[in-house]
Amino acid sequence: MKLNQRIAIVTGASGGIGKATARRLLQDGASVMLAGHHQDKLDAVSAELVKEFDAQRIATVECDVSKEDQVIAAVQATQKRFDGWDIMVNNAGLMDFKPLEQQSGDDWLSVLNVDLMGAFYFIKQAFLQMKPGGAVVNISSVHAVETEPLVAPYAAAKTALLSLTRSSAIEGRPKGIRTNVILPGAIDTPMLWDNPNVKSGAEKIDKADVGKPEDVAAAVAFLVSDDARFVCGAELRVDGGRLARL
Ligand SMILES: NC(=O)c1ccc[n+]([C@@H]2O[C@H](COP(=O)([O-])OP(=O)(O)OC[C@H]3O[C@@H](n4cnc5c(N)ncnc54)[C@H](O)[C@@H]3O)[C@@H](O)[C@H]2O)c1
Repeated sequence: MKLNQRIAIVTGASGGIGKATARRLLQDGASVMLAGHHQDKLDAVSAELVKEFDAQRIATVECDVSKEDQVIAAVQATQKRFDGWDIMVNNAGLMDFKPLEQQSGDDWLSVLNVDLMGAFYFIKQAFLQMKPGGAVVNISSVHAVETEPLVAPYAAAKTALLSLTRSSAIEGRPKGIRTNVILPGAIDTPMLWDNPNVKSGAEKIDKADVGKPEDVAAAVAFLVSDDARFVCGAELRVDGGRLARL
């Protein structure tokens, strides 16, 4: 098992890509702290996972990633429970849909605080707490590169996450901590199908272009493993090639 003895925190672990990532890291031997802002949902995921894996390797922590004090508490809870911390997956994300002229500053901040600042708070703790060999993966989106109407704060946050990845790859390298970012395309989770642009048909999605949460989880598992020891600051698109086509 590639991730034996490694300890991971996965945010937004109560469903979709976060849950698939938690399961994959457990399959690969890691212990996983499931972090999210709804304890009941985390409990349900944990109950499912303990049927497949040793319960000693699974724990949950309620954490609103937009609040730095809660991020610090989640990291402390992880270290107390597992005696260490090697892997951080910044997966929690929020999307809001409004025409630009109807958006308020607070609309922007509510998205930026989760999609960008949440990752910053965890990376800050990683740089303070992780030992050399640590790895961070940020989950951005193809919206960092191309986007659509109604989601300006989300697209801005996901683009900024590429920049944050670059900065943390540079500053983390002397500390022995690698940071990389994944840009998922259309992935089969409620976040995709609840998107009003998708529902209205304004964003057309060919079924062949829809990936599984497990496809993103596999990319995370590679990036946090020693196989990726020389991969740092990479932007990995996991979109089935959708963005490459005219
Ligand atoms: N599904 C897609 O097509 C797709 C495409 C590109 C990128 N993404 C990104 O993948 C990530 C996971 O998305 P998903 O598709 O699994 O959808 P999802 O809605 O299941 O996952 C988002 C998770 O973030 C959590 N979250 C939201 N606000 C939070 C907060 N303040 N604190 C802690 N957790 C919070 C939610 O509870 C949820 O568990 C997101 O960052 C999303 O932007 C998804």
